[in-house]
Amino acid sequence: MRLLLATALILAACGSDKNTDESGARALLTKVNEQKYRTWMRAPGYETRRRAASPHADEVDIYVNQPVADVLAKKLPGGNWPVGSIIVKDGFKGSALDLIAVMEKRSDGWYWAEYGNDGTPLFSGKPGVCTDCHESGADSVRAFGFPP
Ligand code: HEC
Repeated sequence: MRLLLATALILAACGSDKNTDESGARALLTKVNEQKYRTWMRAPGYETRRRAASPHADEVDIYVNQPVADVLAKKLPGGNWPVGSIIVKDGFKGSALDLIAVMEKRSDGWYWAEYGNDGTPLFSGKPGVCTDCHESGADSVRAFGFPP
């Protein structure tokens, strides 16, 4: 499984669709940093840093913004995450930040971005590597679902 995932990531990295919107990705990282995303609510099940269930990193912190929190609190209906939803994941190797992954719900669907620990965009736009694996999630979210 690990080998398969690693292969998928390497193949995707060779593809042409991995980083189609570098400046947009930079703008998105600036936006979530300005909003101090590390002060946002943590994703359900991710109240503290924990082992990743994905190839992203060894351990992850996952933060959700207000629209996502409102759906989780049932103040907004579930079924899909509203436009404006943002989820940010810090990925760690050991105790060191290794990557930052962001997904933002826009009018045309999720926008995806992944950065190195210095904020350099590595993936942006709608890379197949992100969408293929996230497809199985709750409206593409893998870490948690809609409230019952
Ligand atoms: C092989 C599967 C796989 C691939 C490829 C993948 N992810 Fe994920 N991702 C996951 C899983 C599983 C989680 C659940 C949390 C965890 O354990 O890391 C997750 C969590 C996330 C989260 C937190 C919200 C959520 O959906 O749980 C973000 C943001 C995210 N990924 C972004 C990305 C981006 C951007 C890419 C492409 C560069 C990507 N992911 C590629 C499997 C994948």
